Amino acid sequence: DAGDHESFMHKEMSEQPTTARRVLSGRLDERFGTGHLGGLNLDPRDLRAIRRVKILGCGSAFYVGQMGATLLEELARVPADAEAASEFRYRNPIIEPETLYVAVSQSGETIDTLLAVQEIRRKGGRVIGLVNVVGSAIAREVDGGIYLHAGPEVAVASTKALTNMFLAFAMLAIQLGRVRDLSIADGRRLIAALNALPEQIEQVLATEDALAETARRLAGAESLFFVGRVRGYPVAREGAQKFKEISYRHAEAYQTSELKHGPLALVSPEVPTVAIVPDDELVERNVGALHEIDARGGPLVVVTHENVSVGDLDCERIVVPKSERELDPILLTIPLQLLAYHAALELGHDIDKPRNLAKSVTVE
Ligand code: BG6
Repeated sequence: DAGDHESFMHKEMSEQPTTARRVLSGRLDERFGTGHLGGLNLDPRDLRAIRRVKILGCGSAFYVGQMGATLLEELARVPADAEAASEFRYRNPIIEPETLYVAVSQSGETIDTLLAVQEIRRKGGRVIGLVNVVGSAIAREVDGGIYLHAGPEVAVASTKALTNMFLAFAMLAIQLGRVRDLSIADGRRLIAALNALPEQIEQVLATEDALAETARRLAGAESLFFVGRVRGYPVAREGAQKFKEISYRHAEAYQTSELKHGPLALVSPEVPTVAIVPDDELVERNVGALHEIDARGGPLVVVTHENVSVGDLDCERIVVPKSERELDPILLTIPLQLLAYHAALELGHDIDKPRNLAKSVTVE
């Protein structure tokens, strides 16, 4: 049972500092500033031969795959993208020998992801798995992988498994980077930042009361936007996903840069926006775009870092601890879990078992 917690989702969110430590444990090589992922079954020569990475998953696993693709491109400078596993396998995909395919799944049983893996392997492609459940169908089908060690996840909305998926991608990106052009200094810098993340996650969880208050206000809206750019965009997608899954409010994610190409038409005092604004090279453009929302009376919640100045923007700020730029997405994701959770609690929904959804979809 969920013990002292009112739901499994709450229990699982609160376990994240511990489960994050577990996925990193024994997999970081500080001396050479690299990852030490034994289960990949890829030697340095295999790693050097990879020309592209294709990531496949469903739901939250797909969105964290987008975060992973950005990490891989930034740290390893290998072209990478994520696609919904269900779409991939139905479009007669081109399977390339120099592409590394990555299947992402908490349960390891999601049928669309499993069948995508089988299609890739049938055509001679190489697949690794980022899987939580040991010995699951996907874990058995892949050529190698990274177990997530998050422990059993019961709530339909994935929290601790998703966080560990991100951390697994970070280690993979560092290891792939370090057999290429990522310097030892950069490798060490990222490893130090990875090791600091569990405690920083704890700091975000400690702000739960303030987040609950914001969530209760957001729960009153019928419709919300979640926006972000580049590293922040998959964060916005995952945030919107969580919010709609358990609060049953319409939540739509957009690239902040695309606001003026459509969604601004819907912005009004009744439609709040949750904006992801990290302290990065896009901060001024991000804040500029939010002024467009403010000018139309759209309520704003900005998930950001201490150093970011929003000027005279009328908004509520949620501040998370700063990591290295590339690793920021996971700390920006944690408050969105709590926003969704407390909105659903306020609305009196069954948090662990949202209507119409299953923890893992094992039939086509
Ligand atoms: C969905 C669940 O149906 O499956 C999501 O409701 C989950 O929460 C998705 O992200 C993928 O599941 P898995 O087990 O493959 O990660």
